[in-house]
Order: sequence, then structure tokens, then C-alpha cells
Amino acid sequence: MNIAEIKKVGVVGAGTMGHGIALNFALAGYPVILCDVNDNIIKNALKSIQKALDLFIEGKLIAKEEAETVIGNISITTDLEELSRNSQFITEAIVERSEDKKQLFNRLDSICPPETILASNTSWLVLSDFASGVKRQDKVVITHYFAPPHIVPGVEVCGGSGTSQETYDITCQLMEKIRKIPIRLRKERTGHVINRLQDAMRHEANILWAEGVASAEDIELGIITTCGFRMPFEGSMKHFDIAGMWRWPKDVLENYAEKEADESWGLSAELVSKIRGRYAEGKPWFMDPDEYESEVEKRDRDLIRRLKALYRNEKE
Ligand SMILES: NC(=O)c1ccc[n+]([C@@H]2O[C@H](COP(=O)([O-])OP(=O)(O)OC[C@H]3O[C@@H](n4cnc5c(N)ncnc54)[C@H](O)[C@@H]3O)[C@@H](O)[C@H]2O)c1
Repeated sequence: MNIAEIKKVGVVGAGTMGHGIALNFALAGYPVILCDVNDNIIKNALKSIQKALDLFIEGKLIAKEEAETVIGNISITTDLEELSRNSQFITEAIVERSEDKKQLFNRLDSICPPETILASNTSWLVLSDFASGVKRQDKVVITHYFAPPHIVPGVEVCGGSGTSQETYDITCQLMEKIRKIPIRLRKERTGHVINRLQDAMRHEANILWAEGVASAEDIELGIITTCGFRMPFEGSMKHFDIAGMWRWPKDVLENYAEKEADESWGLSAELVSKIRGRYAEGKPWFMDPDEYESEVEKRDRDLIRRLKALYRNEKE
């Protein structure tokens, strides 16, 4: 199978995520069939899609006339067989319950044409677990979108133990075709990558709040106006580069590495040594050390643009 053979897609579950996922495909010109358990839910999903499109028009992302075509690309059903008959790529976005996903995947496996790829939008579950009963092990995959899925560009793509390279590659290509940015995971992990990172921050925020170190409002304000403010430009790894931490004196960097990777994080000796060893190299993750000054300048220009936008918004 290749990407050109995906002519029609299905989305099962028309809730918070499903309606937005369907909209992504429809915006890219794919005929989409959206399925849920009853007409009421699907009607509400269609209302949410229309509302999302109105904001796209307001934001000049699409023209008003295009919105009609996009809506025309979406059909609805409560009949899983109808969805399965013609879809070459199906995304499930049903309730986050392993047993429900298992049942759905098994059913889809039994009623879909053999070439159909089955994708899951699970936030935390592991594919090899709930999709273990599926015969087409080579054609299952995770595409993990982030709310609101029709706006946030990144999508984690993760295979299970039997997922073929072909399925993985087609899935990444498909994400690019619908103007998403695939984040390629090499291994299965509960919570994938990004939810684990988000959770680490939330976990710490909850503790600091419970200990009374700061109010919930100030913790939130702190995130948004400091590390969050920088985040459109840098994630945690690029921060190590751009903040020049790799240039710190050896002993200071070693101290830092010890704090980052010690037993209290529940790490094995092997992982501790791998992380500390990487820090000990004293080199950035991504940038050429000779480009440090220009990278910092690039960051500052970007942040100043964002700062100006903030002040402008305040005046409006
Ligand atoms: N909400 C988020 O921010 C978010 C982000 C990323 C991933 N996810 C994941 O996406 C999935 C859906 O989450 P959501 O927030 O959209 O949930 P939701 O409750 O808003 O929607 C789930 C929909 O699935 C339907 N459904 C349940 N079982 C079904 C079945 N067997 N057949 C057809 N439809 C069925 C429900 O009626 C409901 O409309 C979950 O796996 C969740 O973990 C959610």
C-alpha cells in the first residue's frame, strides 16, 4: 500500500478529539466518515466542526466558500460497518479504556478490508497491549493528536511490536499531507513522550501548590510568563543549548547532571550513567558550538517579537 491508495478515511468517536481529527482530514480534502454511538452526539460534533470552521474563516486560514466544501467532505454514521467498508485509514478516538479500545480494534479488524490501517488516538495506553488480538499486526499504529486537534500541529506517531515500516511511513506521510507534524516515536511507552513531559510538570506544580510554596494562580502565571513564554522557540533540550549550560564549568555541570539523573527518579544504573555521560561531554544537543552567539541572537529576536505582540495586545 502507498499513500495514494488512501482515498477515504474513517474516524470512530466524535467527541472532543474525534470531531477535530475528522476536520483535519476534511480540510486536506479527504472524504471522512465520522462514527459515534448515537445521532445526538454526531449532530453535536457537526456543530462543533462548524464552529471550528467559523474560527478558521475569522482567522483567515480558509475562505468562506472553502468551508462548504470541507463540510461536504464529512459524512456521518452510527454504523461501524458502513464506516469500515470504504476507509483505508481509520482513527479511533473513543473513550480511554483499554477494554473498549480492544473490542473496537478486534471488531474493526474483522470487518475492514485487509489493507485498512487502524490507528488509535490513545493518550496513555500501549498499542501492543490493547491491539494484541488484531490479526493485521502490521497495520496498527498510534497517531496521538493534542487538543484542539484541528489546531495543534504536532502528532505523535508510534508503532506497536508488529507494526510494519510501511504502515509507519504511510502514517507519517499522511500526517504531513493533512498538514500535521509527525513526532516519530521509536518505542512504545505509557503516555508516549509528550504526555509524560507534561505530566512531570503538572506533578511538580501540584506538589508545590499542596506544599503552599505558591498559589495555583502564581504557579500558572510563572509557567506562562517564563518557561512557557520561551517555549515557542525552545523545548527543554534546546534550552540546555541556548542557555549555554553545556559551557558551564565541568564540576557545575556534573553537579547538575547528578540532580537530573539520580535514583530518586527511579532510574536504572544504566540510564543514570547514560544521562550523566551525555552531560559530561559538555556539548550542545543540536547547535554547532561556534554558532552559539548567533543562535542566542535568533532566540532573542523571536522573543522580542512575541513581547511586542504582548504589549500590543495589552493596548488593544
Ligand atoms: N481530550 C483530550 O485532550 C485528548 C487529547 C489527546 C488524546 N485523547 C484521547 O482521545 C480519545 C478520545 O478522547 P475525547 O476526549 O475525545 O473523549 P470524548 O469522551 O470527548 O469522546 C469519546 C467519544 O467516543 C464515543 N464512543 C465511545 N465508545 C464508542 C464506540 N465503541 N464506538 C463509537 N464511538 C464510541 C463516545 O460516545 C464519545 O462521543 C481518548 O483515547 C483520549 O485519551 C484525548
